[in-house]
Amino acid sequence: MKILGIETSCDDTGIAIIKKTKADFEILAGFVSSQEKLHSQYGGVFPALAKREHQKNIIPLFEKALKKAKMLKKADALPNSKKIQKLKTILERNPELFDQLKTFIEKYKKPDIDCINVTIGPGLEPCLYVGVNFAKALGFYWNIKINGVHHLEGHILANFIGQKVNIDFPAIGLIVSGGNTQIILIEKIGKYKIIGDTRDDAAGECFDKTARLLGLGYPGGKKISELASMAKTNKFNISLPRPMIYEKNFDFSFSGLKTAVLYETKKRTKKELLSDTYKQEISREIENAIVDVLIKKVRIAIEKHGAKTLIIGGGVSANKKLRQEAKKLAKEKAVSLDLPKIKYSADNAIMIAIISILSPNYKEKNWKTIKPIANLKINGK
Ligand code: KG4
Repeated sequence: MKILGIETSCDDTGIAIIKKTKADFEILAGFVSSQEKLHSQYGGVFPALAKREHQKNIIPLFEKALKKAKMLKKADALPNSKKIQKLKTILERNPELFDQLKTFIEKYKKPDIDCINVTIGPGLEPCLYVGVNFAKALGFYWNIKINGVHHLEGHILANFIGQKVNIDFPAIGLIVSGGNTQIILIEKIGKYKIIGDTRDDAAGECFDKTARLLGLGYPGGKKISELASMAKTNKFNISLPRPMIYEKNFDFSFSGLKTAVLYETKKRTKKELLSDTYKQEISREIENAIVDVLIKKVRIAIEKHGAKTLIIGGGVSANKKLRQEAKKLAKEKAVSLDLPKIKYSADNAIMIAIISILSPNYKEKNWKTIKPIANLKINGK
């Protein structure tokens, strides 16, 4: 069985093709087209622009993935004109995508794909629509069933890509990305309960917004983390709050931290703000503040629920400091720790393609029933 994965929930266009094997799965192709450069001019993701880029990039990426998977075969018949008309209706809001898909169908024949997994949420609605409409168009034209899958379940299951996973239940899942920060109680794969969430900004968003305040560009997480690692001391004259760290719940609030950074910068002279030392030290303090809160909440979640495993996913899980502190915590609490390979921590379509193999939550559906849900919760509510 071959599965096509499609990911367009934010600013990365992802296409992957995997093959279900007896043991688990084999990756036949996996490509991501990042829009980082484009959005860096605006200091954050601009949904209308992101939608436009997904529309532009998805077919070239699909073609590249099919070629890599050796599944790209020249057409031996003319396209069905009635079906092409119907495709136009399915893609009426994505005319550029329709034109490209029509050309693709004229050139190539139906690839040997048995099922399509597409992210339906959570994410930016205009972006989700591109992936979902594309999946529906393929599902209709080639009569392929579709799974509308949950992006954050993908981030949890990204741990299964390219490595062995030790996971004993119950497990605590920490999802840290640009749009989400959640602590999830995992009874087994497919059975999730959100026990902590952010009340405002996500951890990645806080990295990105504070980086923008400091003029470091977008996405900020990686830049803050690099600068933080250059700071020569941990004892400096900047002190930022650890929002909600003493509250006995698992929720987060990172927008206050961003405001605190703004006030902190207002106390400094232009010369100080531009100095490498200041940038490194404030980056270190921002990173420390975010990681301290994440680790504290995860620690109490592990204690309260008697968790045996800590599993982390999402773009911020690439953060070195978070990885170090999670390792220390896992050792202290004698729980196993799963961290995704760095290259699979950010948005990608392999994690979307493998979901329906690993999770019992999906039953393939007809293309007509699939629709995006921007604020989709992991337990379906
Ligand atoms: O999961 P992801 O690729 O996209 C979303 O679904 O949001 O996460 C992107 C987020 C961005 O906010 C980015 O700044 C952050 O992950 N990020 C990092 C690091 N690498 C990426 N944050 C902290 N440290 C990093 N090394």
